Amino acid sequence: MSLSAVVLAAGLGTRMRSPLAKVLHPLLGRPMVGWIVEALQALGADVVVVVHHHEEAVRAALAPWNVRFARQAAPRGTGDALLSALPELPDDGPVIITAGDTPLLTAASIRRLLAAHRGGATVAAFEARDASGYGRMVPGIGIVEQAACTPMQAAIRVVNSGLYVMEAGLLGARLPTLAPHPPKGEFWLTDLVDAHATVVDDFEESEFLGVNDRSQLAEARGVLRRRLNRAFAATGVDFADLDSASVDVTVTLQPGASIGLGAVLTGDSRVAGEVGPHCVLHDTVVEAGASVLAGSVCEGAIVHGGAIVGPLARLRKGADVRAGARVGNFVEVKGSVLHEGAKANHLAYIGDAEVGAGANVGAGTITCNYDGVSKHRTEIGAGAFIGSNSALVAPVRIGEGAIVGAGSTITQDVPPDAIAVERAPVKITLDSAERLRIHYRKRAAFRR
Ligand code: UD1
Ligand code: MG
Repeated sequence: MSLSAVVLAAGLGTRMRSPLAKVLHPLLGRPMVGWIVEALQALGADVVVVVHHHEEAVRAALAPWNVRFARQAAPRGTGDALLSALPELPDDGPVIITAGDTPLLTAASIRRLLAAHRGGATVAAFEARDASGYGRMVPGIGIVEQAACTPMQAAIRVVNSGLYVMEAGLLGARLPTLAPHPPKGEFWLTDLVDAHATVVDDFEESEFLGVNDRSQLAEARGVLRRRLNRAFAATGVDFADLDSASVDVTVTLQPGASIGLGAVLTGDSRVAGEVGPHCVLHDTVVEAGASVLAGSVCEGAIVHGGAIVGPLARLRKGADVRAGARVGNFVEVKGSVLHEGAKANHLAYIGDAEVGAGANVGAGTITCNYDGVSKHRTEIGAGAFIGSNSALVAPVRIGEGAIVGAGSTITQDVPPDAIAVERAPVKITLDSAERLRIHYRKRAAFRR
């Protein structure tokens, strides 16, 4: 039998204080409502999402999930929201109903409620630490919303989670007959749950954390982060700390990868090697046997097995660090290949360059790739040695095995095995340092 699901996501979410639709706030690389949709699709459900506020944005964000949409004309309550999804639902069979702002709900819990479903309506309930705001599960009656509770009913702590399984036939027959509740004239889905409904009342409250403000968003993010990290750890990934490392769902971690304290991995990053503490990686590949050390920031880069990057290195788009190559502290690399064994150990900018195998780029070296209008390339041949504080003014080529003397500004190609030095001669005046100091002191005294 086909399984359907409806996600109620037409609410506004004013308390988020955000221009973004509440259900689209990102949690580890996936919009909030995407987590619910994933869980439902994992059960094979055909998902319908009810939208109203930010409709276009929600449709666009959910495009990768291939769900269907129903439009609620105006948010007039959960019963009305579900009514607007009715045309998208089959005539019979079970329908899972859930809110779009409870991203911690797991497929396992939904499966458990499905297993308990015996036709009619089945409700997931839990014992709340604080029941205020929830509909109460009142034996012999069904769900009584807080606003309608007698004092005795209000004291009940077993509450409606907002997750249900209901027969499509029941929805078709009863939803159109719901009566509005004063004073707002809302239609309540909970009116479909009467004394005959099946109630499963031992669900985990934490799974139903509703995200209504930024604190709850951060709380949900923390739970998901730990959940994901644990799942990766189970496959053989080593975490210095399960709580502080933040790995988006879009990231791939291979068994044997090691992730440092406070590392942040996003986008299409793929890691099989070592990522040190407090590194930030986006769309970056770290192969097995490669190390990205503490505090490095990498985006759109690839670090091959046997390469070492950092600490405190910055790799930008198109940085390609090959086996045995080394990018040290305060080195920035963009759009460049460092071939096997090439080294730039300290304080350099390598942009739009090819650095040959085994070449050594000294501290303070800069490839001057930009003339204010266009970018130009620098080629450094295999085994070349670039002395410290050199400026390589692109386009320029340094031949294989060539040596560039420290402090040179190179504006023309250097042939292989040549030495290029561009440097004013050093002027040395003997026995004059003390005379100069006396001169300075006199001048300072005169000024006072
Ligand atoms: C609802 C339940 C309550 C339950 C609680 C669990 C009703 C009447 N009450 O109350 O018993 O304990 O959830 O969290 O159902 N939505 C729409 N269109 C609307 C109104 C709401 O799509 O017109 C969506 C919201 O975006 C949200 C979900 O439905 O995702 C729940 O609505 P909400 O207003 O949060 O209901 P609660 O008052 O929390
Ligand atoms: Mg709510």
